[in-house]
Amino acid sequence: MGVTVRVPAKINLSLRVGPARADGFHELATVFHAVSLCDEVTAADAPPEVDAELPLLTLGGVYADGLEPDDSNLATRAAMALAEAAGVPPRVRLHVRKSIPVAAGLAGGSADAAGVLIACNELWGLGWPVDRLRMLAAQLGSDVPFAVLGGTAAGTGRGERLRPVPVEGRWHWVLAIVDDELSTPRVYGRLDEMRAGGQAHEGEPVSEPLEPDDRLLRALAAGSVEEVAGLLRNDLQAAAVDLCPSVAATLQAGLDSGALAGLVSGSGPTCFFLARDAGHAADVADSLETSGRCASTAVVTGPEAVHIEVERSR
Ligand code: C5P
Repeated sequence: MGVTVRVPAKINLSLRVGPARADGFHELATVFHAVSLCDEVTAADAPPEVDAELPLLTLGGVYADGLEPDDSNLATRAAMALAEAAGVPPRVRLHVRKSIPVAAGLAGGSADAAGVLIACNELWGLGWPVDRLRMLAAQLGSDVPFAVLGGTAAGTGRGERLRPVPVEGRWHWVLAIVDDELSTPRVYGRLDEMRAGGQAHEGEPVSEPLEPDDRLLRALAAGSVEEVAGLLRNDLQAAAVDLCPSVAATLQAGLDSGALAGLVSGSGPTCFFLARDAGHAADVADSLETSGRCASTAVVTGPEAVHIEVERSR
């Protein structure tokens, strides 16, 4: 038997960041939005001769280079965590085909972990409901619970407390992928430093406790593209640009290309741009590519669901 799960990348349409907590994480209020750039996770029965104590992991796809298929990989850790919690041996052959860039602010690693949880839940016949998978997902990383869920959701806590939100229609985005990586802890750390030094004022949270932006949620529910364009916000953007200054030119190139709005995705360095429709998105992507201010572009839509395919004969 084999199970294939296509797990989308995410962008944060709004990301408000509070002060660092005692556990080192920051309190967030965010709106997660899954887009149609997906990693594919396949889980299949391991051959009988294979050691059942460790999942077998192989990696492929355009962004597999430089990743280690060992037990430091979040995909392996997800299989181990699920097996332990369910009291079964972690007996599985995993393959991850990476189409989501790594350390890019798109939660690619979290998507892989979520895909493994969903696929192994099927393969091992555990029958865990999604909510139970999400609770385990939170132990693997702040973005993993949303990756299990897909679609669009308001997130609080460190990002693990989720509420799915209604979104009208399909939304058209252009991702500008840059030839650089940013470490998430480094970006949060830089934001703390900038705030302590009196920089990044506009990134200060406006109220406690932090709540996802209600106006943005209403505009998404109404399908109001122009309104959403004015409400995109990312408190990590100033820190990401500070650590990776070329991102400022990428953002400007997207706006010069006619995008309605542009923002750094999560902790960066990928930027995303809002377009009116599919044709407009294709134009923005063309113009961005010509500008030379990014390595590549991806025209995507959202909200995207997680897709599961079970092949019994495998
Ligand atoms: O949860 P995750 O493993 O993705 O987090 C990676 C790092 O990002 C954390 O160790 C922390 O430094 C930072 N982070 C944070 N606040 C959050 C999420 C992540 O400070 N809400």
